[in-house]
Amino acid sequence: MTDKIATLSIDGMDPIKLPIYEGTGGQDVIDVRQLVNSNLFTYDPGFVSTAACESKITYIDGNQGILLHRGYPIEQLAAESSYLETCYLLLYGELPTVEQLDKFTNSVRKKTLVKEQMIHFYNGFSRDAHPMAIMCGVVGALSAFYHDRIDISNEAHREEAAIGLIAKMPTLAAMCHKYSIGQPFIYPCNDLSYAENFLHMMFSTPCESTTVNPVLSNAMDKIFMLHADHEQNASTSTVRLAGSSGANPFACIASGIAALWGPAHGGANEAVLDMLSKIGNVNNIEQYICKAKDKHDPFRLMGFGHRVYKNFDPRAKVMRQTCDEVLNLLGIENDPLLQIAKRLEQIALEDNYFIDRQLYPNVDFYSGIILKAIGIPTSMFTVIFAMSRTIGWIAHWNEMHSEPYRIGRPRQLYTGKTRRDYPS
Ligand code: SDX
Repeated sequence: MTDKIATLSIDGMDPIKLPIYEGTGGQDVIDVRQLVNSNLFTYDPGFVSTAACESKITYIDGNQGILLHRGYPIEQLAAESSYLETCYLLLYGELPTVEQLDKFTNSVRKKTLVKEQMIHFYNGFSRDAHPMAIMCGVVGALSAFYHDRIDISNEAHREEAAIGLIAKMPTLAAMCHKYSIGQPFIYPCNDLSYAENFLHMMFSTPCESTTVNPVLSNAMDKIFMLHADHEQNASTSTVRLAGSSGANPFACIASGIAALWGPAHGGANEAVLDMLSKIGNVNNIEQYICKAKDKHDPFRLMGFGHRVYKNFDPRAKVMRQTCDEVLNLLGIENDPLLQIAKRLEQIALEDNYFIDRQLYPNVDFYSGIILKAIGIPTSMFTVIFAMSRTIGWIAHWNEMHSEPYRIGRPRQLYTGKTRRDYPS
């Protein structure tokens, strides 16, 4: 907090003094809560200049291209840590000891199974249903099994829900894939690491168990880590808003999945692959760059631009390096889509339209190329994002419930009809 004050002067009104708070990083904030007493609202569609909450979990500096999880730079976590260790850090605030990580890992392992009757929910979907539609349904359905057993004011109950969600999301996600290709569901194998287990459930069959290539499972774990949390993005803000009503945590996570699905948000990774495939070869890049710059053309360069990053998304840098490593190790360094992506990035970063608008590759630009190399179908890309982001969503949900909170209830600028009588 600070003793700094903002004074709002409005003709005909007494000056309104608003407290200014400063955090440990980033912009100061002006507390505008008392404006309602002056019969005034702030107006900020898209929340470009609005801090909706206080948080200690993740810090982003969009100008410097910095991303910290509980103070640790994403580059260092990606190089040294693992997804489950990062989950522990995001949830509890500190890196675990060896014993703490073992205990946490075992707690997750014990919850990877879902109720057998969950299978009936899958059977209700058409085989070609989008996996994100299925995930919205089945994750929301989890609340039916745990609704009356969770007291969200109880820290231990919240922790159990968090661990259950981290554990079950890979199982539910892999079931989406198996259902879409008409293969039997594969049960989790708890001898495997988190990423190995997911790839096992995705690619094994009852006839033969897949041998997970460590290059691919390491890349998978890194992708999980790079998507784990990202401050108050659209889907995390959705989870917080749903949670502020006291809703069941599984239902709140389902709301986050729904918000993530949009192509402007988590759906961009799938859209990037579709875009690269549509471009087809490097000779067509210029025409797509023109489309992206044309105000009358709805086409956007998917995987480019960000509300916060006005510099390189640090995750995109790590993702690009991982992409090079994985494709080299797999002997597909000349992957045509990667060549198009690299050339597209080079051309866009030299073009004044993108430079003037500070548009850089974001986390979604390279992730899809790695996922494709791992053998993940494009329609599953956003499901992978949702799986990874579950820890971020539930850490923010838990942080909100750890302090006194009020239901989120934004107001509006009303420009509709004034009162009029129903014609008699
Ligand atoms: C994620 O918030 C998060 O943290 C999200 C995320 C996370 O981890 O949770 O980081 C994950 O969602 C990454 C973003 C993935 N989405 C995409 O890659 C889709 C393509 N990007 C754009 O749709 C856009 O850049 C957004 C949605 C990401 C950001 O939109 P903003 O902040 O509302 O910016 P804007 O649309 O107002 O754009 C500003 C200008 C506009 O031009 P002008 O009107 O000023 O002339 O930049 C242009 C836009 O037309 N612009 C683009 C563009 N992105 C912005 N032009 C072409 N291609 C693009 N990709």
